[in-house]
Amino acid sequence: MSTVLRTAVETLRDRAPRAKPQVAVVLGSGWGGLAAHVEDALHVPYTELDGFPHAGVAGHAGEVLLGRIGTREVAVLCGRKHAYEDGDVKAMKVPLLALRELGCKALVLTNAAGSLDARMAPGSLMALSDHINLPQRSPLVGESGPDRFVDMVDAYDRGLRETALAVAHRQGIELHQGVYLWCLGPQFETVAEIRMFKQFGADAVGMSTVPETILARRAGMKVLAISLMTNMAAGMSEENLSHAHTLEQAGRVTATASRLLADIIKEIAP
Ligand code: HPA
Repeated sequence: MSTVLRTAVETLRDRAPRAKPQVAVVLGSGWGGLAAHVEDALHVPYTELDGFPHAGVAGHAGEVLLGRIGTREVAVLCGRKHAYEDGDVKAMKVPLLALRELGCKALVLTNAAGSLDARMAPGSLMALSDHINLPQRSPLVGESGPDRFVDMVDAYDRGLRETALAVAHRQGIELHQGVYLWCLGPQFETVAEIRMFKQFGADAVGMSTVPETILARRAGMKVLAISLMTNMAAGMSEENLSHAHTLEQAGRVTATASRLLADIIKEIAP
């Protein structure tokens, strides 16, 4: 374990000596409402944690919440650093490995994405069944040993996804399934790119999640990921794309999405 990782884990253990989180969660744009569902929450700012990102983008708080959702102990990362900020695809490595070290065997990733499927209008939710790593960048570059050759078949755990689909069904909320294509960003896509991505088999496009899934699979965590569609992808509607628009659209559905996510987490058996 690196010194930075060990220090971060020790700080979290000092701050919350009794915490034994089972499920780690990363909140992306539009998912901040989940924080209100965490009971007995202890807040630890990223600035107190070695190796955690110390500057984020609008819409993210930059703190870890340790607490409970139902009977599940959770560790919620409010805010992520994206590879588009400074090109670092390992930005979330220490936070994710620290939560794994604390005991999290499952990881729930959330994000905002653009929809490539006319049946998924803005406001729709999609559980990732798979991803396309378009930039072909990896947070595992530079690692050694045979474990770095991580098997990415079924990277998104079927059991966790089935639980998510069952909870959504029970609540009468449509949860789509589909393939998420990662773009480095931060610029949005061209119309020609979106046309190509459709042919590649992508259902949604976004600028996060994939490096985190790779890190989590390497660490042996099961992954569930859910996208909130904030817009139709470039060229598929009359709207202009902007980060402000993403946040505004996300804000419209954050309460429903967060409640669903809280109920899913209550049922996850890591
Ligand atoms: N493209 C990339 N990332 C996104 C989008 C998009 O259309 N919407 C929200 N995040």
